[in-house]
Amino acid sequence: MEVTYKINRKDPENGGESGYANYQVDLPEDATVLDGLQKIRDEQDDSLAFRASCCQGTCGECAVRINYKAQFTCTTRIGDVTKKAPEVQLDPVRNIAVIKDLVFDMDAFTWDKMAAVKPWMEPDEEFAPTENIVSEKDMADVRKTMSCYQCGLCDEGCAVLPVNFDFLGPGAMVKSYRFVMDPRESGAQMDARMKVVEQPQGLWDCVHCYEADGKCPRGLTPSTKIMEIRDVSFKEGIKNEKVGRHHASFINSVKQTGWLDERKLVMETEGLTNVAGLMKLLPTAVRALRRGKMPGRHEKRPGADQIKRILEKAEDSK
Ligand code: SF4
Ligand code: FES
Repeated sequence: MEVTYKINRKDPENGGESGYANYQVDLPEDATVLDGLQKIRDEQDDSLAFRASCCQGTCGECAVRINYKAQFTCTTRIGDVTKKAPEVQLDPVRNIAVIKDLVFDMDAFTWDKMAAVKPWMEPDEEFAPTENIVSEKDMADVRKTMSCYQCGLCDEGCAVLPVNFDFLGPGAMVKSYRFVMDPRESGAQMDARMKVVEQPQGLWDCVHCYEADGKCPRGLTPSTKIMEIRDVSFKEGIKNEKVGRHHASFINSVKQTGWLDERKLVMETEGLTNVAGLMKLLPTAVRALRRGKMPGRHEKRPGADQIKRILEKAEDSK
């Protein structure tokens, strides 16, 4: 079949022009999108840049956007993406600097963030430096996350990264999950690990949109994993001080009055002794006052005691 490849070409390092270039390629229907790219480079334009390594969907190198959806070129059949029209549009994945054409900065996109979560294990001292048997049940979930390709497709779909590129992102947090849940780390090692993943722009900056869950080709549900690490944090004690204050203020407010005291929440999250932090809130408070958005008096609601009992029961059941 005759297919038009519409490829987003960029060459920023050499000041090259950006824009789409069209290539006509003759391919069998069961060819992959990668087959077409290789054919273009072999027969029409050897300056075309793209990545691929394993060519069988196991390394994650070939991730690009195919007709606006991030996928692997090596496992995507041309017949499947040209059902509506014999044209396939290829763009680099979003949220990241392009080096050339479909090749993007993998260090900034994935590797630096993976490295930031300390992707190695520091077992408890009780574990001898010999063979340590851990139960199959304890390792089942951990082993599954070990199959992460580190392809970054979850980061590509993340709702936070487009507005805050410093956010660790779901890919790095899946890597962290692999160690957080490993039974061979606990105590001081676990505390240190949780501090790393709870760093600013980390665990608590996820907005739980669950977009990443639908993007992972391995079905690793990265967003759900982030929520599971949060559960561990609640259980072990929140390490990020600001988040800890926010959580305590939220719970105390609902327990005492049956609903959330938003004014108090903002100030207690910042820290009541943190004068500089509180001063920074002043302009927002003034704007809220002017626009009539400042929350009013906060009084105990009818049924507050019942809400308190429900909360306490939930806390006890953890
Ligand atoms: S969690 Fe899934 S989508 Fe994210 S990097 Fe790993 S394999 Fe790719
Ligand atoms: S080349 Fe390895 S996943 Fe596509």
